[in-house]
This record gives sequence, structure tokens and C-alpha cells, in this order.
Amino acid sequence: MFSRIIGTGSYLPEKKLTNHDFAKFVDTSHDWIVERSGIESRRVAPKDEYASDLGLRAAQNALCNSGIAAGDIELIIVATTTPDMIFPSTACILQSKLGIKDCIAFDVQAVCSGFVYALNIADLFIKSGQVQNALIIGAEVYSRILDYSDRSTCVLFGDGAGAAVLMKSDVPGLIASKLHADGTHKDKLSVPGWLAAGKIIGKPYVQMDGPAVFKFAVKAFEEVTQEVLKAANKKVIDIDWLIPHQANTRIMNATVKRLGLPLEKLVSTVHHHGNTSAASIPLAMDEFVKNGNIKKGDSLLLVGVGGGFTWGGIFINF
Ligand code: UT7
Repeated sequence: MFSRIIGTGSYLPEKKLTNHDFAKFVDTSHDWIVERSGIESRRVAPKDEYASDLGLRAAQNALCNSGIAAGDIELIIVATTTPDMIFPSTACILQSKLGIKDCIAFDVQAVCSGFVYALNIADLFIKSGQVQNALIIGAEVYSRILDYSDRSTCVLFGDGAGAAVLMKSDVPGLIASKLHADGTHKDKLSVPGWLAAGKIIGKPYVQMDGPAVFKFAVKAFEEVTQEVLKAANKKVIDIDWLIPHQANTRIMNATVKRLGLPLEKLVSTVHHHGNTSAASIPLAMDEFVKNGNIKKGDSLLLVGVGGGFTWGGIFINF
């Protein structure tokens, strides 16, 4: 038994912040942001919209495209770094918003690799026969954990959500995957804050050693792509679309170059999404499905790298 993606969806909040908007309140410029990251604009959710709200819209879109009714979903996994609250999980909140009375629901916290982790877990649930289908969502409201006076981080991230519906299949869909984590890098990219006795302890904002993350990401993207290709018994030439976590155009271009993959096979949406962490891969995938580039039967390689560090990849027959 295998699992296969039968529908994708996404949602972006309406409000757009351009680089020029940032230049009004921090010491930065449109040119610096574009040159160093490739980002031109990103979306920001209103104060009363949470990860579950963005995730709900993406999930409804994916369900509609898959032809499955919400009530038939047997497993919901939400990959998020910005949950609605400490508990219950954003997956349970989203489940109730979808009107589903009973299914398995939980969150995955693997930061920017979250969607790849969640897909892998859902695939195992389906392969084991425990469920027939799954709704996987990456949803983030990074605007809540950004220090808008820190120019080295606030210009990089955005809000959004993407989703995919997986269904059991006789034909392989998710062909091979590899997941990794190395917590010795925990201080290079983190939100080092938490709650105790009703108070925020530490710093509840994203902090990042940008150059160290950059260096690690380029190497990890290449290595895990090769590892997944080997597990899938495929070659670089077999990839129709490489969908990396969308953090920086320079990281993605360097990865493609190191792999010897033509640039036309790179899915890149970071210029208008910014870095949406766990939402970035499903958002990018859905955009390329909707614009007709990704077609049924295409070979996709999804790769994520994020805080932890965590990293991983999946080879998919779409
Ligand atoms: O989602 C998880 C994965 N995350 C990533 O993959 C992010 C990885 N890292 C990066 O994408 C890049 O390291 C950044 C885009 C974050 C930064 O680019 P960089 O080329 O590595 O720049 P840098 O951090 O080395 O900073 C260069 C200079 C510094 O000034 P000095 O010390 O040379 O005078 C920074 O203070 O650029 C300055 N700088 C800025 N200048 C204008 C940092 N942020 C800004 C800014 N506007 N927004």
C-alpha cells in the first residue's frame, strides 16, 4: 500500500508588506533585501487571524481540489512553529473549525522542515493501514514572533498556509524520504522564549545567525537531495520540480547549481511569500500546481531545512 497526494491548497492573508514599507521603520533598503535574499514582499495576517485560520482556508482549498469531504478525513497533521496557543494543538482547533467530530489530530514542530516531517508521518500512517487518508497543513503567523526593530530578521519572514490531501493508493506517490535533526545547532536559529508563572521568560522573537544557517542550508539541501534520490533509485535528471524550503533565492540557486539541475526545474516563490517556515513548501507547491506548471505524474523533490537544525526530503510521484 502507498500514499498519494490527491489535492493541494493554500491561503495568504490579504495585507502585503513590501521592502519599501520596511525601509520606513528599520535601517534597510529594497535593494539590500532583494540582493541578499531575493524577497520583494510578504503577507501579514491581521491580529485576530491565527495559524488555524490560515490553515483552515488552505485546508478547505485542498479538500475542494481533492474531492474529499472534510468529514471523511481520518488524520490531520499541522506543521507549525506559531501555534494558536500552548494547547490544545492547532490541529485540534482546525479540526473543530472544519466540523470534524472524530479523527486523529496533532501538531508537528520541526520548524521549516515541518511539512516534510508531517508528510512523512502521514505516509507511514497510511502505509500501515491505520488510516486511509490524511490532511497535512503547514500554517504560520511569523509576524507574531518577529522583532520589527531587528532588521536582520524582520524583513525575511511572512505569514501563510499550504495544505495537501493524501490518499491510500496502489500506485506509489510518496516514493522515498529521509529526515534528520541535529540539536547541537539549537542556538543558531531559535525563539528563545517561554512562559512560566504567567510571564514571558527569555526573548520571544526569532533570532538567527544568518551566515551560519546559510552555510548549513546549502550543504544540507544538496546532501539530503542526493540521499533521497538514492533511496528512490532516481537521478538528478529524474527531478521535474525541486521544491526547497523558501528562505533565500541565493540558497536555492546555489543548491540547484551544486546538484547540476537546470534552474527552470526550481520552484521559487520566496520573492512574494518571504520565508513562511513550515508553510513555505506547500505554498510553493500549490502555486505551481495552480499555474499549471506542476502536472499529474511529475516527479517532485521536496526538501526542507530549519531550526533545530532539522532537515529532510521526500521524492514524490505527483
Ligand atoms: O528558515 C530557516 C532557514 N533560514 C535561512 O535559510 C536564512 C539563512 N541566511 C540568510 O538567508 C542570510 O544569511 C541573510 C539574508 C539572513 C543575511 O544575508 P548575509 O549576506 O548573510 O548578510 P549578513 O548577515 O552577513 O550581514 C551583512 C551586513 C551586516 O552589516 P555589517 O556587519 O557588514 O556592517 C548586517 O548588519 O548586512 C547588514 N544587514 C542589513 N543591512 C540592511 C543585516 N540585515 C540587514 C537589512 N538591511 N535588513
